[in-house]
Amino acid sequence: MTFPPFEPYRSRVVEPIHLTTPEERAGHLAEAGYNPFLLKAEQVMIDLVTDSGTSALSVAQWAAMHGSDESFTGSASFERFAAAARELFGHPHIIPCHQGRAGEHLLARAVLHPGDVVLANTLFATTRQNFEEAGAHCQDLPIAEALDVGSRHPFKGNIHLERLADYLSRREEAVKLVVLTVTDNARGGQPVSLANLRAAAELCARHGAPLWLDAARVAENCYLIREREEGQGDRAPVEVAREVFSLVDGLFMSMKKDGLGNVGGVISCRDAAWAEAIRSRLLVSEGIPTAGGLAGRDLECMRVALHEMFDTAHLAWRVGATQRFAQLLLAGGVPVLEPVGAHAVYVDGRAFCPHLPDEQFPAWSLSAAYYLASGVRSWESGNVTYGRLDPVTGRWRWPELDLLRLAIPRRVYSDAHLAFAARALVELHAHRQRVRGLRCTYRPPALPQFIARFTPVESGDGVA
Ligand SMILES: Cc1ncc(COP(=O)(O)O)c(C=O)c1O
Repeated sequence: MTFPPFEPYRSRVVEPIHLTTPEERAGHLAEAGYNPFLLKAEQVMIDLVTDSGTSALSVAQWAAMHGSDESFTGSASFERFAAAARELFGHPHIIPCHQGRAGEHLLARAVLHPGDVVLANTLFATTRQNFEEAGAHCQDLPIAEALDVGSRHPFKGNIHLERLADYLSRREEAVKLVVLTVTDNARGGQPVSLANLRAAAELCARHGAPLWLDAARVAENCYLIREREEGQGDRAPVEVAREVFSLVDGLFMSMKKDGLGNVGGVISCRDAAWAEAIRSRLLVSEGIPTAGGLAGRDLECMRVALHEMFDTAHLAWRVGATQRFAQLLLAGGVPVLEPVGAHAVYVDGRAFCPHLPDEQFPAWSLSAAYYLASGVRSWESGNVTYGRLDPVTGRWRWPELDLLRLAIPRRVYSDAHLAFAARALVELHAHRQRVRGLRCTYRPPALPQFIARFTPVESGDGVA
């Protein structure tokens, strides 16, 4: 007899969910300019907008936070955090910062200059924005399977090694940085294999190009390596991680995802000159190098998470819950991007809403309709987030994938919550013609997904 899996934790504090009606939600969404990000949290019943900063903290994290040292400089909390991070990452320089994009910003300002080239499997939106603002040319080099929604490649996050080798040989002087985003959030939360990491590290070493990780979801990536890569099944996720860290020159990491924190980030690197340049920038914009704009208690919380995030039972439950959620959606005919990763389930917006042209943002419009129907908040990783106006042709260039993202906060929702969310999306899929297209009424020049506003397309309307 096999027993059903259960959460490897129990609840001690609970937070009530405010129930809403479809009529109330229609008003809330209109007020938010049809941008789910602008909804108030109390207007949402199940919040799958992000897995970032939304984790439930453990008893050990709270206990450590109560024992923090809040001295302005040289605090014991920093020393404890830095020692734990150094031991895990294996790099001498540990620099805390308040979240992932702060780390990206510091790195960009400290080491990138106009004309530099940054290569990556895929840069996350804020990373690209920070690097481009520093004048760098950013080139994503995903493998072909990452762009094919029908492909079941187990490591769609891999960097295209032939293209990387080609770039490095042709532009060796200009390539300032190579980044592997683990897992690749922008293209569906897909993992990078250990074999790909090893090969990329070898190529980078041969050409003298520093290899860094965007390590926001490195623990989930290492768990998926253990699950999917030949010869890795017997290794603990943390063992895989130690090898991964040994292959790179540095990393920047939002500690709000796998790092199980409500705030926080970290940069870890080998190069003393880069570390010094980053610390100098940090003094200008974040705080002091032994705090990075964080309180001592935040550093304690991050320290405990460096250990907790690699717990095999935690990762097994989390990945299992995501898979079960995806199976319910797939069984109901929802076009889910496969294979399913760990932190989120992604739905192909164009396949779900074939009646909507790209200009009416299929995945974004689906996100709005889903909230109206169910009170579940999701988010887009597609035409609004990654669409670019071509300055030469004056026409929009749409990304290869227009995805709805259902991100799952860590240690927060049960299978029952996810079953409700799945049932609602399956029902909407059965009536998908009802998903109305949206037209953009306000789009800021950068990171539009956070503040853009929309209105429903009326029949006979022009588009965007
Ligand atoms: C892969 C990746 N990198 C960087 C970031 C930025 O991190 P933060 O939200 O902590 O600024 C995110 C946020 O979602 C992310 O998913």
